[in-house]
Parts: sequence; C-alpha cells; structure tokens
Amino acid sequence: MYENILNKYQPDKDNLIYILHDIQDNDSQNYVSEEAINAVSDYLDISQSHIYGVLTFYSMFSVKPRGKNIIRLCDSPPCFLKGSSKLYKKISKMLNVKNGQTTKDGKFTLELVACLGVCGNAPVAMINNDIYADLTEEKIEKIIKKIDKGDDNVS
Ligand code: FES
Repeated sequence: MYENILNKYQPDKDNLIYILHDIQDNDSQNYVSEEAINAVSDYLDISQSHIYGVLTFYSMFSVKPRGKNIIRLCDSPPCFLKGSSKLYKKISKMLNVKNGQTTKDGKFTLELVACLGVCGNAPVAMINNDIYADLTEEKIEKIIKKIDKGDDNVS
C-alpha cells in the first residue's frame, strides 16, 4: 500500500523524515498510521519505536487521524500577546472543536502550536501549507469559510 511512496526513496535512514512527510501528505486523514510505520520500519530497517518517537517529537506529524485541513494556530507569547486566544475562541466556536480535535464532517482539525517563525506579524496561523499573518477574528473567519467552500484562493 505504501510501495509507491517508498519506492521514490533510497532505503536510506536519512530519508526517514521525507518519507514520513510524503506518507502523511498523501493520507486522506493527514496522519501516519501504524500500518505505515510498519512499512517504513521494514523498508529502512529502523525500529517502529524510533519512528514513533520521531512522529511524536515533531508537531507537524500526527499518529492520529485528522481533518482534511489542519489549522495550526500559534500560541507562543508574541502571538498570545497579540490576541491569539481570541482567535482560538473564534475558531473553536465556529467549528465546534477544541485543541487537537477534528470537526464531525472531517474537514478541519484545530491545533495550537509553538512559534511559526513569523512573530513580527503576530498573530499567526498556518492552514495546511499556507501562513496567515496579522490575523483578526474577522480575517480568520473569512479564511475558514472560503476553505470550507473549497476556495483555495484565500489570501
Ligand atoms: S510567536 Fe507566533 S509566529 Fe512566532
């Protein structure tokens, strides 16, 4: 099941992170399953516990199924001071989810994360692979509604 992805890479331990990203990006539920961990373990000859350790160390990875769209809201101090908690409440209310939860329709997962590296434009969120800075409650609402409608052009 994961052969197509694994075969793109040499069976070299240095490729672990790239392979895990590729698997997660191609998973409809945005995560790395136990089955995938086993496949990678066999392919790279790395223990499952080591792979699990890597997956749980990096916040970009998940070992639990998630929504189609991942909303990562920064709650490090610079963003917090600029109102990230208001954004959290707004998103939480809009989607009826708390940190780490996925909407019932499987469209969105909300995650609070540490600094996304754009502190000068706090508060900041990353939705899928896009960064949204200088956010307000109105802006985040508009962005989420557009993504919900399937409109990728949300800048
Ligand atoms: S503190 Fe939020 S992006 Fe750095």
